[in-house]
Amino acid sequence: MPVDTRKLKDNFAQVGTNGVAVAEYFYADLFGRNPQLRSMFPAAMAKQHEVLLAALSQIVASVDDPDALVPFLRDLGRRHHGFGVVADHYGPVGASLLATLAYFSGPEWNEDLERDWTAAYGLVAKVMAEAAAEPVA
Ligand code: HEM
Repeated sequence: MPVDTRKLKDNFAQVGTNGVAVAEYFYADLFGRNPQLRSMFPAAMAKQHEVLLAALSQIVASVDDPDALVPFLRDLGRRHHGFGVVADHYGPVGASLLATLAYFSGPEWNEDLERDWTAAYGLVAKVMAEAAAEPVA
């Protein structure tokens, strides 16, 4: 079944009403499960909370516009290469993102959303990691 982008957008809009708490939960979950990743990030995370939420909003807003989304993700993926991010990091980040979305969705969370978010994140990670793996022209 194709990804229902309308449902993803609606779900993200609802989750986003919780503001910065979403990013706080995400990083707490990520570092709780993967303490070795903490040192990749700055000590003070306030700015990171904001940029993560802004990037996720941008991704979700252009989820059905590949001409805008793909270049954005490729640039983001290349910058992540510079942060020391490797392909294996995308799995744990995806798991914490899904856990965060599930937490803030509460009773709205269901198998369809889980499947569609998993598919969407998988594509995002693929485009980012592939761009990062290409030699710089
Ligand atoms: C959906 C996937 C992801 C999104 C939307 C995202 C978003 C962002 C954004 C917007 C920044 C700010 C810098 C910039 O824009 O270049 C950033 C920085 C960073 N991200 Fe990600 N990221 C993702 C995946 C990952 C993964 C898989 C890792 C691996 C642990 C990671 C680790 C980092 C690190 C280490 C920084 C730099 C922090 C610093 O030194 O300031 N990100 N990310």
